[in-house]
Amino acid sequence: STNRTFTMIKPDAVANGHIGAIINDITNAGFKIIALKYTQLTAETAGEFYAVHKARPFYGDLVSFMSSGPIVAAILEKDNAIEDFRKLIGATNPAEAAEGTIRQKYAKSIDANAVHGSDSDENAQIEGDFFFTAAERF
Ligand code: CMP
Repeated sequence: STNRTFTMIKPDAVANGHIGAIINDITNAGFKIIALKYTQLTAETAGEFYAVHKARPFYGDLVSFMSSGPIVAAILEKDNAIEDFRKLIGATNPAEAAEGTIRQKYAKSIDANAVHGSDSDENAQIEGDFFFTAAERF
């Protein structure tokens, strides 16, 4: 059924000039853009967004990386959005990402891995609400 996912184009992909190519890949794969924003997280807001990972050893590096430069946040809609988007972006570690996936093409490391994709409908809702008001969704 038609549902939504949430994505961020991370600071590495923005800094490397990949915003346009990544949005092109996303829309070519059949995702409709519901909301879109160019912004930068602070250490505080990145820490809040990734609070679920607080106990993980990579949390500190994740928060400092994700607040190191501008990002693009978006809500996307498609049939089977969560699963299909995770297929489009590939494995979290770009060294393990399949040929043709966004992370295989644009990511450098497990930390600087170009894009985020929600792992469930519930988290897509929570993450989208973190960045967008009702009036910013179309
Ligand atoms: P993301 O899907 O945005 O959510 C958490 C991020 O932590 C993940 O992408 C990776 O970029 C980063 N990360 C770093 N190390 C790990 C790890 N060992 N396992 C999972 N995520 C990691």
